[in-house]
Amino acid sequence: MEFILNKESEFALDVQSGLSAINKYLPSKYFYDHRGDMLFQQIMQLPEYYLTRTEFSILNHHHSSILNPVLDLNQSFNLVEMGAGDGLKTKILIEYLHSQKVDYTYYPIDISGNVLNHLKESLENKFEGIQIQPIENIYRKALKEKIWDNDRPTLLLFLGANIGNFVLDEAKEILGIIGQALSKGDYALIGFDLKKDPELILGAYDDSQGVTRDFNLNVLNRINKELGGDFDLSKFKHWPVYNPVNGECRSYLVSLIDQEVHVEALGETFQFKKAEAIHTEVSKKYDTDELCVLAKESGFEIINDFLDDHEFFTDSLWKKM
Ligand code: AVI
Repeated sequence: MEFILNKESEFALDVQSGLSAINKYLPSKYFYDHRGDMLFQQIMQLPEYYLTRTEFSILNHHHSSILNPVLDLNQSFNLVEMGAGDGLKTKILIEYLHSQKVDYTYYPIDISGNVLNHLKESLENKFEGIQIQPIENIYRKALKEKIWDNDRPTLLLFLGANIGNFVLDEAKEILGIIGQALSKGDYALIGFDLKKDPELILGAYDDSQGVTRDFNLNVLNRINKELGGDFDLSKFKHWPVYNPVNGECRSYLVSLIDQEVHVEALGETFQFKKAEAIHTEVSKKYDTDELCVLAKESGFEIINDFLDDHEFFTDSLWKKM
């Protein structure tokens, strides 16, 4: 009975289309339930997962140079952030703004009200008098509605290589929407993971402790729990693949046997052939030529690329033309 209610949910519809497709897929946004969030927190601490600590080192090193262009405007401004999460990275920037006694309002955008409440509480405890206005919405809608103060300049943050979880065409679309949401002279700071030794990249998505495997398999867990599926997780193998030509690291779940899986909420049984794959995630890596094209096509000029010493990652500062 409980599952029948879920039949029309976005999750149910996406599972229905993804598992009925000739090449099966499940969108990676469904990794992130409570357990998925916890697994992702663990991933960020893994020795192989270089992305998070690399971006931290960039922000620790370059926070003043990153913020100086917007501070040089000598005006109060909006600090808008897409997908702030636990806000640990943003705190480095906020700390600097606080020390400079600057007037700004922080608008974190997230789909989860829970995440936003935690973030607001922890920032208010740490930074007395901080002005924070959480926006509970999906990126696309929040950017279209632009509920921040449109008479002030804006610095938009899109960190954590979250843009990498879109294929190139979708990334272009999102950056285009960001371009339209900003006004001439506004700034955007976007975190891109860069192409590098394929072994390092693949290692980040195939860690020795198997946390990324569990994270990938978690989408099947969710189908079991929320839609009454009967996936046997031990019958699927986590299989990440990196393509150094297009920079896409794609993760799959490969069926180890011929099997049938029933999903009660959909009233459907899906067939899996031995060795058949479900595509679950893309984590795209960029090169600097691609960044130039992306910036230009979405109406920005690149002001500076803030890189780490190994040139693994860039927080790229763009200005709206
Ligand atoms: C959130 N996102 C940037 C992560 C990434 O690297 O693509 C998600 C992730 N998937 C596996 N490990 C981490």
